[in-house]
Amino acid sequence: MDFKQYITIVEDYPKEGIRFKDITTLMQNGQVYKAAIQELGKYASELDVDVIVGPEARGFVVGCPLAVEMEKGFVPVRKAGKLPREVLSVDYGLEYGKDSLTIHKDSITKGQKVLITDDLLATGGTIEATIKMVEELGGVVVGIAFLIELSYLNGRDRLSQYNTFSLVTY
Ligand code: PRP
Repeated sequence: MDFKQYITIVEDYPKEGIRFKDITTLMQNGQVYKAAIQELGKYASELDVDVIVGPEARGFVVGCPLAVEMEKGFVPVRKAGKLPREVLSVDYGLEYGKDSLTIHKDSITKGQKVLITDDLLATGGTIEATIKMVEELGGVVVGIAFLIELSYLNGRDRLSQYNTFSLVTY
């Protein structure tokens, strides 16, 4: 399936010069959304996965349906101040802006095999921060799955030691 035709490119959003990849038009189509998750599921089925971890908000859009399909748990990574219990926190830089990410300290046990998911790989800052937290909690990152990779931002260079998969590349 040509998934790109369901992703809308929005010029100059949220800032001038950014060509925003809007996945909401893909999500609006139930069959296409399901097919996209199934493709990521094919990649994930080759891995030995215990749990899926994804950063808010669009990482949930990918990680939660995949977790349900695989009958695995899902662990949310959230922006600061959103998780109610004791968290591990890490600062990170974005394609546009800065923030910090958090994860519940008890959400991953030592040696657990983790698949990380997100909608988009841009600079790789979000995923690098997510990996850092997973590894600090003792998790082993066995794979990283994206709907979209912006190859011109070279985020993949930061993930060279990891097994990664992207459904579509720009
Ligand atoms: C976007 C996107 C990825 C990240 C990619 O999330 O969903 O998580 O940026 O950029 P990077 O590779 O340069 O880190 P955003 O922080 O905009 O949050 P949202 O999903 O809540 O919209």
